[in-house]
Formats: sequence, structure tokens, C-alpha cells
Amino acid sequence: MTQCKTSKEIGGMGHSLKRKEDARFIQGKGHYVDDIKLPGMLYMDIVRSPYAYAKIKSINIEEAMKVPGVITVVTGKDLEKYKLHWMPTLMSDTQMVLPTDTVMYQAQEVCAVIATSKYAARDGREAVKVEYEPMKPVMDPFKSLDPAAPVLRTDKPGKKDNHIWHWQAGDKEKTAQVFANADVVIKQQMHIPRIHVVSIETCGCVADYDKVNHHLTMYMTTQAPHAIRTVIALVAGHVGLSEERIRVVSPDIGGGFGGKVPVYPGYVIAIAVSFLVGKPVKWIEDRSENLQADSFARDYHITAELAGTKEGKILATRFKVLADHGYTDAAANPSKFPLGLFSICTGSYDYNAAFVEADAVYTNKPPGGVAYRCSFRVTEAVQAIERLTDMFAKKIGKDPAELRMQNFIKKEDFPWHSPTGWIYDSGNYQAGLQKAMDVVGYAALRKEQAEKQARGELMGIGISTFTEIVGAGPSKDFDILGIKMFDSAEIRVHPTGKAIARFGTKSQGQGHETTYAQIIAEELGIPAENIQVEEGDTDTAPYGLGTYASRSTPTAGAAAAVASRKLRDKARKIAAYLLEVSENDLEWETGKFFVKGAPEKSKTIQEIVFAAYTNHPQGMEAGFEATHYYDPPNLTFPSGAYICVVDIDKETGAIHIRRFVAIDDCGNIINPMIVQGQVHGGLTQAVAPAMYEELIYDGEGNILNGTLMDYLVPTAVESPKWETGHTCTPSPHHPIGAKGVGESPTVGGPPAIANAIIDALSPFGITHIDIPITPYKVWKALKEHGAYD
Ligand code: CDP
Repeated sequence: MTQCKTSKEIGGMGHSLKRKEDARFIQGKGHYVDDIKLPGMLYMDIVRSPYAYAKIKSINIEEAMKVPGVITVVTGKDLEKYKLHWMPTLMSDTQMVLPTDTVMYQAQEVCAVIATSKYAARDGREAVKVEYEPMKPVMDPFKSLDPAAPVLRTDKPGKKDNHIWHWQAGDKEKTAQVFANADVVIKQQMHIPRIHVVSIETCGCVADYDKVNHHLTMYMTTQAPHAIRTVIALVAGHVGLSEERIRVVSPDIGGGFGGKVPVYPGYVIAIAVSFLVGKPVKWIEDRSENLQADSFARDYHITAELAGTKEGKILATRFKVLADHGYTDAAANPSKFPLGLFSICTGSYDYNAAFVEADAVYTNKPPGGVAYRCSFRVTEAVQAIERLTDMFAKKIGKDPAELRMQNFIKKEDFPWHSPTGWIYDSGNYQAGLQKAMDVVGYAALRKEQAEKQARGELMGIGISTFTEIVGAGPSKDFDILGIKMFDSAEIRVHPTGKAIARFGTKSQGQGHETTYAQIIAEELGIPAENIQVEEGDTDTAPYGLGTYASRSTPTAGAAAAVASRKLRDKARKIAAYLLEVSENDLEWETGKFFVKGAPEKSKTIQEIVFAAYTNHPQGMEAGFEATHYYDPPNLTFPSGAYICVVDIDKETGAIHIRRFVAIDDCGNIINPMIVQGQVHGGLTQAVAPAMYEELIYDGEGNILNGTLMDYLVPTAVESPKWETGHTCTPSPHHPIGAKGVGESPTVGGPPAIANAIIDALSPFGITHIDIPITPYKVWKALKEHGAYD
């Protein structure tokens, strides 16, 4: 655990400060996009397609225009006049803003109704009559690759199939050789199904174009305001919306989890209408639209293979992925990594042969592929390797904890070069798993399990020992649409020693206002409560790539530390001048410089800052400000050891999570209470895909669970009691030794649960069930394996 070097009053690293932002959140004083009301504001509602694949024969707006309050209905053909009917995706694909002739997935935007109230807009929406000519959709990604399948992207000249891209990493021949000579080979087909982030707040915006000043203010729910500003300028630059004329403001956000990274058609339509009409336009999705049409997560079909010795040594792994991206690749991945960072799939284990290959395809499903609370597809990777590891242990009859201990990369072997090209910065996997086993009482649980199994009862213990990869990323490898993935901090300290700090990231509930202040407090000794943190306004914040993939602490958090250190260098010069000594004669102690050997001769940071405005050395620039754009030298590699204990009712398949112990290692911790909150929330979001959530489509492209009545989101009732703890291996390259944490629990949680359930069912010969593992799937597997004969 991080030792506190500062007093509670300063509130630097390691203090469990209560979150500054909570005062407004818990008193209903948060300020969200839907709270914005501007004079003359119009409201937009969107007509959506009931078909997954259809020609639009006609759009009749006559009745809609009769609805009192309806001003206009905007179609793709209207936008086409301004070349705004298509837009680029973050993966350099293209996406319709509004269709001119064909719809490509159910719930796709067809046209937009603009009215003086949201009720009129909704009534207008109901009155629009669209005539469609339905076509047979392509729903199965494997069939999509069939040469006989219809080519979906007819908008792409010369496109002859539905294949999007191929990507690979690792050494194919070397891996094949190891597999050919191995004692034991495990092979498993897995599907990590399509799920949705289901943040509490849906997406929305208020586009406010000021015709007189040719200026757009875009209030919107985005995790990456600066990147969005650049994208708007690229899409609409030709109609005069150049970047200096655009201000993106991202106010409070009620959860993002990756779903608020992409650019959705609704944003662009609202901008276009505001631009044409000269009035502010508000668009707020409803809950069903959010679930049915916004970017999905996961949807990877994986063939996972592991080769090992009969003594339990892992020798090689091989993964073949088919990624279903829906009708366009609107994923939010770094350009060089269309498969995200899935190639971390070699896990926490020491072997040197691996090969990963992936192909992406178009289908008639909503577009996307966001990294739902995981660093670009790491959840899928961890599910694959941790399931394989357990299957290997079962196959050779070894305890899965013992097998993991045998295969872990040793703490002295870091930095460790993975067979797919990553350099793990630090870790101590043995210590993490040992701690989790001690806390859960592993040996006693295995004894209890054996006794229960003898009585025919179903109890399982599941382990997941995962390595995460967060903090995208070093600019040599990481960019989105060409923009390098650095991040930024700007600190301005006022004459009285209080500060404002601005960042290129954007909190969606993670507590940045508190933790960034703590980093600066640690470095400068200014009390955290005297540091105001601001994010989300492109007019004031320094350029940054935003918050997702647990990158804020590794990038902007590092920028805060480095900018603070620049200020401390300046403070040293001023202190030397004030104390009339050489800079080398000074020593720093939190919040003050003192003369070596004469501690009574000192200047506090407040005195120094005041002098920066009132009495600074001649020739020195006045003021006390610093900015830093931090380009990380590497990613950070947090890890965790999770153990889940389940009891299963044999007759109904009902699963009860009895214990869940999560030991995380995110390096040095800024705020233990916030980290614990991150882990609790993330674990609940791990139960969701492990046991409940999956977006299901029928063969005609209808979504079968498009409302929260059918799409099961776990509530407090379904959430087990989490037992959390930590080990700490600081990141050697991060200025404060911290690694990201926000996504570890979502990444590491599902395989621990899946492994526990399969462990309970293994006496019947059941070796794998795809997540979500529902009671029905358990009952069905038991039935198929003769449990009820
Ligand atoms: O990018 P995002 O903010 O979602 O993820 P993160 O960098 O993992 O941080 C999530 C929250 O946990 C932030 O408030 C961090 O400052 C805090 N945190 C921490 O206190 N100590 C760490 N070692 C990592 C994160």
C-alpha cells in the first residue's frame, strides 16, 4: 500500500479523501447535457428503421409537418446537398449520418424531426411514414465471409466481399512447431458476445451555432472533447466550421465506459440543423435507442489454443479471432491496433511462442466495437487465456492455482518481453495470487468442495490471474485518426497559492477532480482542497485524447506530476533568490524549501508563489504556471488475482456467488477509497457479461432484447459482497509509479466467475460454456451430460 508522505491537511497520494465532486452529485447539483436549456432551443427526435436491411422507397413527412410545433424533417437527401450525409469513423471507415437509399441495421437513423418541444418532436416522429423494401440481412459473421453472401458495403467502389481487415502478431511458424511437438493441446471455440455499456445517462447533445459569429458551441456527452472537435472540423470544415470556430463542452457525464467515445449520427445531424436554422438544437436519446443503436462492445468469435507439457508448463498459445463489427467499423481503437490490445492474450505466463490473427467482417448489425470498460479488447483476451489455463489444469489433473504459480513470469524477470511484442513494465504475480488464496482460505475451500462433491452438491472455485495493459500510449505506436495519444495538464497557481489545473481528459464519474488535485498536492505541497480541477471544455483545457481505457492516470496523471515538477524547479529559483542562497543549498520538504543545515530559514510554497507575482528575480518570467504534454514511454501493466466461489443449485441451474476476493496491483495508489470504488463498480460490471448480458438478434436482424426489461443489467440485489485488497509493484517509468485501475475488475472478473461455474460442473465432464452463463445454460449442460438421468 502506498505510504502517505503528506499530512492529511495537504492530502497528497495515499489519502482516502472524500471526492470533491460528490457534494454536487449527491445533492442533485450535477450539470448534465440535458440540463442545458438555451433561448430558442429546438428539439430533435429520430425516426429509426424497423428493418435490418432495406431499401428506402419513400419518406412521407406530410402528416409529421402538420403536428403543431414541428418545424422540419431532415433526411439523408437534405444532408447530401451539403455533403454531410456520410462521416468518417474513428477507425477510418465511413458511416452514414442519414441514409439516402438503404438502411443497414435495425434502429438505424432514417430521418430527424425538428420541433419546438421534445413532445412535438416525438409526435412528429410517429407521424413520419417511411416505405421500405426489406432485404435478407447478413447476421452471421461466418456466413458474411461466404463468397455467396451479398456484398453489404456497395457504397465502397470495387468492394467484392464483407471482409474489413486482417491483423496478426507473434510468430506463426515457431508457434506451429511448438504445437506440433507438445504433449497436451487444448482447443476451444469461444464467443464473447455483443454487449452494451448501458451507462445511466444516455448520449445526447445541444448544438448551438451562432450565425453572426460563425461559431459552434457543442455541448455533448463525450469522453474525448478535443478529438471530437477535430473530427467535427474534418467533417464540416468545408461548410466553414473550421476548428477555431468550434467549442466542445463536455459537462458532467453519467457514465461513459467507452460508449461515449464514438461520434454518433445524432451529433452530426444536430450540428447540421443548428447550422442551417441558426438555433440551438437538443438531441437526447431515450433508453431503448441507446441500447439498440449505440456502439456495442465485444462480439469476438475466438478459436483459442494452448500447448503444454503433461507436467503443466505452458509452451505456446494461438488465437484466431473473427470480429463482427456490424455495418461499419466504428470501433474506438488506436489506428495501428484494429484488434485493440487483444494481443495481451498471452497473459501472465512465461513462454515465448504465440500467434494471434484476426479478421473483421461487416454484418447488418449496429456499428461499433468499443472497449467497454477495458483497454481496447483486453477483456476478450483475458477471458480467452484464463479459460484456457483452467482447461489445461483440468486436463492434466493439476490444481489451477498451482499451475498458475508454476507458469507465472517471475518478479525478477521484468521488464518482460511478451511473444506478441509488449514489454510488461513490472509485476509480482506470485504475491498477488498468494494473497488472494490466503484471504479466501483456498486450501479449506478445496477440502469443503471435495466433501460437497462427494454428497453430489455443486460448488466451484474459479481463479483469474490477469495482466492488463493500460495508458495508451507511446506516440510512436499510438494514435487515433493520426492524433498521437499523449495527454496533458496545465497548472496555474494564483498569487495566494491556490491553483486551477486543467486536463485533456474527461471524468465520467472516476473522481478526477479529487485525484488530480492529490497528485499536485503531493508534488507541490498545496492542499488538495485548494486545487480546482477542470476538464471537458476545449476552449480552456489543453489538447488531450480523453478518458477511456484506464489511460487518465498513466497519461494525464503523469502530466500533472511533471508539470508540478516544472513549477517546483521555478519555486527553487525563487526561494534561492528570497533566501539569498544558491539553489544547490536548498532542500525540498513537502510545501517548502529550506536551507540545508538551517531548517529555520525556509520559504513556503505560498510565499514563493506570492513572490512569483510580486517580487520575482529580475529577468525571470513572472507568474506561476506550467503545462505538460506527457508522451508515455510505455504502457502500464496492472495485474490482479481474483478468486470466486460459487454454489450451484443442481435442479434449477441457479448460480450463487458466495465469495469474491479481488487482489489488485495498480502500482502506487493515489486515493485508496476511489480505487476501491472503481473495483467495486468494475466487478459488478464483470458479473454482467459473465452471467446476464448479451444482445441477441434473430435471423431477420431483429434485436430480441432491446429494452431493459429483457436485457439484464445487474442491480445491487445481484451484486455479491466484494472482498478487495492490494499488492503494489510501482510502474518503473511512470513519474508517480502509478498504473491505471479503472478497468482491471471488468477485465479480470468474468473468467474468475466462468472458471468457478465450470469448476462446479466439471464432475459431469463439462469443460466450457460461453458467457453469459445463465441458469438455463447450466441446466442444459447438466442435462446434456447426464446429470438428471
Ligand atoms: O482513465 P480512468 O480515469 O477511467 O481510469 P484510471 O486512470 O484507472 O483512474 C480511475 C480513478 O482511480 C481515477 O480517479 C484515478 O485517479 C484513481 N486511481 C488511483 O487513485 N490510483 C491509481 N494507481 C490508479 C487510479
